[in-house]
Amino acid sequence: MSDMVTTVHVPANDPAPLGIDLSTRLAGVYFPNPVFTASGCAAAGQELGQFFDVARLGAMVTKSIMLEPRSGRPTPRMAETPSGMLNSIGLQGPGIDAFLQRDLPWLAERGARTVVSIAGSSVEEYGRLAQRLRGRPGLTMIEVNISCPNVEDRGQVFACNPRTAADVVTAVRRASSVPVFAKLSPDVTDIVAIAEAVVTAGAEGLSLINTLLGMAIDTHAMRPVLAGVTGGLSGPAIRPVAVRCVYQVHAAFPDVPIIGMGGIRTGVDALEFLLAGASAVSVGTAVFGDPHAPVRVVDELRTALAERGVTSVADVIGRAHRDPATYVPEGPDPVEDPA
Ligand code: SIN
Repeated sequence: MSDMVTTVHVPANDPAPLGIDLSTRLAGVYFPNPVFTASGCAAAGQELGQFFDVARLGAMVTKSIMLEPRSGRPTPRMAETPSGMLNSIGLQGPGIDAFLQRDLPWLAERGARTVVSIAGSSVEEYGRLAQRLRGRPGLTMIEVNISCPNVEDRGQVFACNPRTAADVVTAVRRASSVPVFAKLSPDVTDIVAIAEAVVTAGAEGLSLINTLLGMAIDTHAMRPVLAGVTGGLSGPAIRPVAVRCVYQVHAAFPDVPIIGMGGIRTGVDALEFLLAGASAVSVGTAVFGDPHAPVRVVDELRTALAERGVTSVADVIGRAHRDPATYVPEGPDPVEDPA
């Protein structure tokens, strides 16, 4: 398969190893490379800090934080599925006070660029969270999680309705001192309409996509596997859905920066998202099997670009939208029909 890449490990402090410029800009903010963690898969980074220097990534995206500490949904709340994973964590977390006292300073001390994901159960709560984050050292951007599928009431999935999605973004935008990215759900009829609503409300960028609502049933116990019954599906199984969402939204709003995510395991997977129109990517579920996955993806992406004769990430962002008429499929030349 042409997807196989040979990884070349290079020192973290070399600005353009192999002559490849991996840097990217989102809403005017510079990132040395386009590979971020995905919210929810590495808490506030300490777990991954034992495997690699968290400042090596473009950014660390923290687990969605709420105003109050929260224990989440009952167990079992994770399940393996074909090429994927279901979770029904229910936004477990320490609450904003502990996060500001312990977690954000830990990331700032290590020089990580931090995207703080926030989640609330009302518009007002989102606004208060943004207010608490204002001016905090180490805060680079806010990701507004309006798309968690594991809430008590589907009405709380603000991203499923353009008006509620926009209301949340307006409240956060008003209170925030840094760029605001809205994280959207693929579980909607028209993700472009939701994107338009949040961008009009002031979001500087979009995170695409959160998990898809799914469920699994234990055929021996004859009941749902997850105690919460339903959960969010992530992993390679959702990658084509995520790539489609990024592609559609980039086609509609080419100037709005997108962080793409959904089943990224390799540098080539990351490249697929960039080609669809993402300016950065988040690696999530892959870290459960390989905690080094995000830094490995940085190295593999560099190699994948070099192999394709590309010298800069900026040159591939949205490139799959160009000239569909000149598309040449990969693979051997077709064999002439001898007849
Ligand atoms: C959860 O904590 O339930 C997952 C959060 C999310 O998918 O947004």
